[in-house]
Amino acid sequence: MRLLTDVAAIVALASLCAAQNSSTIPSEVPLYGNSPPVYPSPIGNGTSNAAWTSSYSRARALVAQMTLEEKVNITRGYTGKCVGNSGAVPRLDVPPLCFADAPDGIRGQEFVSAFPAGIHVAATFDRDLMYRYGHALGAEYRGKGINVALGPVAGPLGRVARGGRNWEGLSAVPYLAGACMGAITRGIQDTGVIAAPKHWLLNEQEFRRRESDVGEALSSNVDDRTIHELYAFPFANAFREGAASAMCSYQRANNSYGCQNSKLLNGILKTEFGFEGFVVSDWGAHHSGVASANAGLDMVMPDGGYWGQNLTEAVNNGSVSAKRVDDMATRILASWYQLGQDEEFPAVGVYSSTVKHEPIEVQDDHPALIREIGSAGTVLVKNVKNALPLNNPKFLSVYGYDATVKSTPWQNPSRFGGGYEVNFGWDILNGTMITGGGSGSNTPSYVISPFHAISDRIARNRGTIRWDFDSENPYPPYFNSEACLVFVNAYASESFDRATLADEYSDNLIQNVAVNCTNTIVVIHSAGIRTVDTWIENPNITAVLFAGLPGQESGNSLVDILYGDVAPSGKLPYTIAKSESDYGTLLNSSVSFDYFPQDNFTEGLYVDYCAFDKDGIEPRFEFGYGLTYTTFNYSGLDVGQVAANTAEYPDPNVPIVQGGHPQLWDDVLTVTVNTTNTGNVPAAEVAQLYLGIPDAPVRQLRGFHKIYMDPGQTATATFALTRRDLSVWDVVAQQWRLQRGQYNVWVGASSRDLRLHGTFEIVEEWAKHARANRGRTP
Ligand code: NOJ
Repeated sequence: MRLLTDVAAIVALASLCAAQNSSTIPSEVPLYGNSPPVYPSPIGNGTSNAAWTSSYSRARALVAQMTLEEKVNITRGYTGKCVGNSGAVPRLDVPPLCFADAPDGIRGQEFVSAFPAGIHVAATFDRDLMYRYGHALGAEYRGKGINVALGPVAGPLGRVARGGRNWEGLSAVPYLAGACMGAITRGIQDTGVIAAPKHWLLNEQEFRRRESDVGEALSSNVDDRTIHELYAFPFANAFREGAASAMCSYQRANNSYGCQNSKLLNGILKTEFGFEGFVVSDWGAHHSGVASANAGLDMVMPDGGYWGQNLTEAVNNGSVSAKRVDDMATRILASWYQLGQDEEFPAVGVYSSTVKHEPIEVQDDHPALIREIGSAGTVLVKNVKNALPLNNPKFLSVYGYDATVKSTPWQNPSRFGGGYEVNFGWDILNGTMITGGGSGSNTPSYVISPFHAISDRIARNRGTIRWDFDSENPYPPYFNSEACLVFVNAYASESFDRATLADEYSDNLIQNVAVNCTNTIVVIHSAGIRTVDTWIENPNITAVLFAGLPGQESGNSLVDILYGDVAPSGKLPYTIAKSESDYGTLLNSSVSFDYFPQDNFTEGLYVDYCAFDKDGIEPRFEFGYGLTYTTFNYSGLDVGQVAANTAEYPDPNVPIVQGGHPQLWDDVLTVTVNTTNTGNVPAAEVAQLYLGIPDAPVRQLRGFHKIYMDPGQTATATFALTRRDLSVWDVVAQQWRLQRGQYNVWVGASSRDLRLHGTFEIVEEWAKHARANRGRTP
């Protein structure tokens, strides 16, 4: 590695930024399309903390007693009860490990909960809920004796608007996704279940994510800076919180398959991020035996892939070192010890629904949490003529296929969100949509549909409800009805990308209801971005709710908002454009039909709102936007002082631990602002901090603080910014670097509703004399 002076590094970086602003990335941009070799594979050493040190010494002692065949056996999968089952060593009491989906609830089992999907959790902007979500999920996995939960998801991040799995992820905004990754991982692992953040890395679309008859899988070609600042960034939070596993991805990255990419596995993951756990392949993502072993893969799923007996032979003939296999086995067993799974971990309680068995109930009190997250992640984007909250209505009419659970059997009973078999823009078969499809779908023990919950409320009030779930053009309304609620959805699933961001049937339905009803309230259950411009300005459409993918308590979460028991506080985790074409090249998954398809991420850091800001495109509803039943005032921005401990980075005496160099996580700047609830309703506000780093996108989210306030109450939102939050990745020095120059700080209620502005400057000799100016209020 070449270490240049700071000045040279910054000059080099500035020229890289200039290059990234043009439409194509020149071939000299580091890594782009070409993954460099990084060998040998780092040997896990357990030095991150005392717990890892102890886990490693126990694992090493166990591995020392194993034969080569036994070590190899624990690095592979077998068919069994779980989605994945690793090999065992009965002689030494090493059990098979049970791996299961999904990131939003255990799939295919009874007496489990269907939690909100990842994107819905992101929309809460609530760190406490993120943690409690992870903890409740982990408790269910543990209760079923599942050792490894396959999640959370930050790949896809959500680069492509129509990406089929964006909803499993946690938004395309790395800071928000990172906050979720960290909190969810900690929650899961606090229950003693291993989290496996996935899919590492650059797994941004479904189309040609895998090899097929047409040719190899697509290659996501991404430059070094973008890899660090955008795609790897949120994973770092999960590793910082101790994630003991990681799943490598199907597609190629810079022309090298994800599970044999030495730069991504040996380099970024195991060296820069100091990863102590084990890398497991996505199912069937194995493309070689020797190459994947040497590139840093530690376990193959769902079978032996190119390993098994071949790996034993590779060690015997010297193609793979014995040390590498020792390292694989040690990493797996150290992770098992690290989560305390050698002691009193429940027996695997996973069954096929065709087998009679004792029920293992794991739902506990999770329905209340699911209901709370469901409403906290619901985003109100339009509300005129005091449409919401409803004022104790006596008569409501309900329209649309998404209002209720359909009486037709699910196409695939173990996957409520649908299997891989349907690709409609909307999900008319399953009725109300609580999650998306594919391996990330889940299996609710019950579903409270919107119709169910609204009926309950109407019944309590001795009112009347009328409905039509099936017509595209429902019968003219009931004159006594106080509001017409129309329910539509926008479906997505693993294995295909979305065909459209809005469908004609649903748009017609909404407009047909609105023709006759002057108080039409639209509720959209959506797996991601859903454009609304066909009808959003219709004066008869008085309120619009993005109700996301809320999980099994869907209807209850919604009525809490509709009736004003809970004021909305969700914020959009993505930008909704006026027109699909506003997403430009990031609308569709797109690769050529070549045998070696190339997907060039030429936009670099400019995805979601950063792209809209850069291109001067006005969105319909921007990232971070969301209304509520009150108003908030912002005042008193205090930008604080950049801490003196910014000097001496990286301190050579501070070793890298899991999550990266510890100094990256030092708080170096604290910003505060006062928010006041100026309306009449108690509600929570999400104060958002956007940072303008020199030579970076004009504004990037670098802080958020959700605070509940009574009417008239003022609260202080505090943003602790770390060294990483203020830094860019210097491709020459291969380090994170603070930038010399003026930083802008904006605090507001969305990425465009910026209420207060301040600045601070990092001057020439930043390392020693960092200084900050006081923020100022415009
Ligand atoms: C493939 C998916 O990409 C991954 O997310 C999932 O965990 C595995 N299948 C196992 O179902």
